[in-house]
Amino acid sequence: MLNKPFNISKLTLFTIDDLLIQFMSGLKNDLLLRTLRGEQTERIPVWMMRQAGRYLPEYRALREKYGFFERVQNPSLATEITIQPVDLVGVDAAILFSDILVVPQAMGLEVQLIESKGPVLPDPIKTQEDLKRIRVPDVHETLQYVFDAIKLTKQELNGRVPLIGFAGAPWTILCYMVQGKGSKTFDEAKAFCYTQPELAHQLLQMITDTTIAYLKAQVKAGVDTVQIFDSWGGLLSKDDFENISLKYIRQIVHALKDETLVIIFAKGAWHSLQSMTETGAQGLGIDWCIEPQTARNFAGPNISLQGNFDPAKLLSPIPVIQKEVKQMLTSFGKGRYIANLGHGILPNVPVDHARAFVDTVKTFNL
Ligand code: CP3
Repeated sequence: MLNKPFNISKLTLFTIDDLLIQFMSGLKNDLLLRTLRGEQTERIPVWMMRQAGRYLPEYRALREKYGFFERVQNPSLATEITIQPVDLVGVDAAILFSDILVVPQAMGLEVQLIESKGPVLPDPIKTQEDLKRIRVPDVHETLQYVFDAIKLTKQELNGRVPLIGFAGAPWTILCYMVQGKGSKTFDEAKAFCYTQPELAHQLLQMITDTTIAYLKAQVKAGVDTVQIFDSWGGLLSKDDFENISLKYIRQIVHALKDETLVIIFAKGAWHSLQSMTETGAQGLGIDWCIEPQTARNFAGPNISLQGNFDPAKLLSPIPVIQKEVKQMLTSFGKGRYIANLGHGILPNVPVDHARAFVDTVKTFNL
């Protein structure tokens, strides 16, 4: 009788088990974590990649006053920005406001963020000689501000929702370290891997070692789960993805498997969903170019899928968003599913459209 669901609020059904688990984890809303563990939940959890960002006027106000890395390196600003979408849009998880490019910075490369141009690394890695300029750093010496921001964010969240930590996948980080800027093709980064494979693998291993230490320290500081962003994984063929990207992601997942839950998001790398599942990760992000059922067939039943709303569709009128979101939720079906976009939210999305996305998930009954 005790385990019959009962109503606490109008919206939520809890069982005594749920309440006990939530009490033990110190989280009032742990839908995301339970979904990653494959447990049943009262409803589908929802968050948005790049949810802490330019579509929010409150973010843009801070942007007027402080430079990008100033915001990233100041724990109280990073905390404020991290929590904005929780307060303003009602997402079920916070993701730390930071950037994947703090890793090359900590390894010794200069990284600038230039308005309307994106990231610029003025002295990229091209030769064996260049490798001498970088190192696998002590993450506590170079990235302590991230761990301080995590501790402060956890305090300020006060158990409202879980906090997601993150890092770039080694291949995606190599893209920026070698190309020196954003690119549609990352042709120089690819050429580097194809013409100087030994050097490329040396660099990938250095990034991997740094990332493992970095993510372990994020977990120690308090993040509840981590996501590995391989934004440029889809630029590689299946074989190259295995050799240049997945091999290193696998090392990261193995190193973290006893410490936290891991989500891998390799945009466009649909061909490797099965291999990614076999790493032992608990979650797999997918973009909008693969259908939910196809992704499920590739991934099998034992991993949570996350995605895959086309971010540009958030520019549609709200009734269209609501209809399309419901269609997406129905296609993914019940269980082992986290609602999200298929890539980061665009800066020109109206806040009420983002809220419509989140609210449609939160009120949806399968
Ligand atoms: O998700 C979140 O809200 C947390 C914060 C976060 C940022 N970057 C903040 C940011 C996360 C998770 C990232 C990850 C990131 N950074 C990725 C992987 C995810 C993806 O979108 O593919 C990549 C490739 C980067 C590198 C990067 N940083 C680029 C290409 C740019 C410029 C273009 C852009 O999208 O704005 C950034 C800058 C950046 N990182 C901004 C934010 C909020 C915009 C900075 C500003 O102009 O205020």
